[in-house]
Formats: sequence, structure tokens, C-alpha cells
Amino acid sequence: MTSPALSTFLSRASGLTDGCTEPADCVLALAPLMGDLIEQAESFLEPRHYRGDPARYSRNLVHAAPDGSLSLYVIVWQPGQWTPVHDHGSWGVVGVLAGVLEERSYVRLSPDRGAHSGIELARGGVILLARGAVTSFVPNPDHIHVTGVAAGRPPAVSLHLYGRTMSDFNTYDVAAGTRQRVSVAHNES
Ligand SMILES: [Fe+2]
Repeated sequence: MTSPALSTFLSRASGLTDGCTEPADCVLALAPLMGDLIEQAESFLEPRHYRGDPARYSRNLVHAAPDGSLSLYVIVWQPGQWTPVHDHGSWGVVGVLAGVLEERSYVRLSPDRGAHSGIELARGGVILLARGAVTSFVPNPDHIHVTGVAAGRPPAVSLHLYGRTMSDFNTYDVAAGTRQRVSVAHNES
């Protein structure tokens, strides 16, 4: 059963994004809601949402809108687990529930927003996100990054809201200057 806190969040998020044509406006409106949701997470998250995997970071689905317009996941990160270099092709809002989530950014130097080759990336800055932190991103130009937990740090748990069902994303081969769309697994709720 969906908790009142989660129902309220999803209802507000859906209402905000329905009328939102500019992704930057979407995340501007949604970021405070994510901050509130972090504080209420214990009221709706269940043990299945905290499932981890020793082999890779674990994505546990909380909600996927039937029309594919929104999705919410809990991601569980063990020390030393990282995403590939990727972008989402969507806006997203991330809130940290536990641990320290690290994000390493990349900056695209080549003027090729939609291209899958000839991509020149430069390493950008790093941000450390502790419990209560909210971060967000918007597409076009794509937000390219690596996210994870450094070895030696405690595990991290984070909430991820996206503007589509996040069943695939673009991963980058930085040295080759290419990217490809790949499926990304999750555990059903
Ligand atoms: Fe990401």
C-alpha cells in the first residue's frame, strides 16, 4: 500500500511535471519536494527497497507511472560501486538517504548534442552528497557523470526521480569518444 507521504509526493510531482515544458523549471519545482521526501522516507520504504548487490549498485523500483512520465527508484551503493560514465536523456532529481554519494562530472567539449561518436569529454568537478542533500540535472546538453561510493566509505542509499521510465541510458567510452544506449536493470517493487 502506498503511504500518504509517497502518494502526496507522487501526486505533486505529477502535477508539476504535467504543466512543465522546460526541464530546468521541473527540477526547480521538484527539488524541495525531494528534500521533504527524504525526511519521510522511513514511512514508505520497505526492506525490499534496501536490497543491495555485492556485484553492482542495485536499483529498486518504488514507482513507475503507467504513462512512462515519471519513475522513482531507491539505489543502494556498496563501497566501490560506480555507474559507468553516462547521461539519462531526461531530467532527474536525486536525494540522499544515507552515506555519502559521490558525483564526478564530465563536460562535453564537442558541439554534438545528439551525436554518438566524435564526442570529446573533459573531466569536471566532484561533489559529495551527504544525507539530506538534493541534486538535479537536465538534458540537452546532456548531463554526463559518474556516480557512486568510494571504497572505504560506508554504503549509500539514494532516491532518484526521473522524467521517464529509466530503463536505459547512454553510456560513454571516454577514450573512444563514443556513446551507446544500454538497458539498465532494476528490481521490481
Ligand atoms: Fe546519473
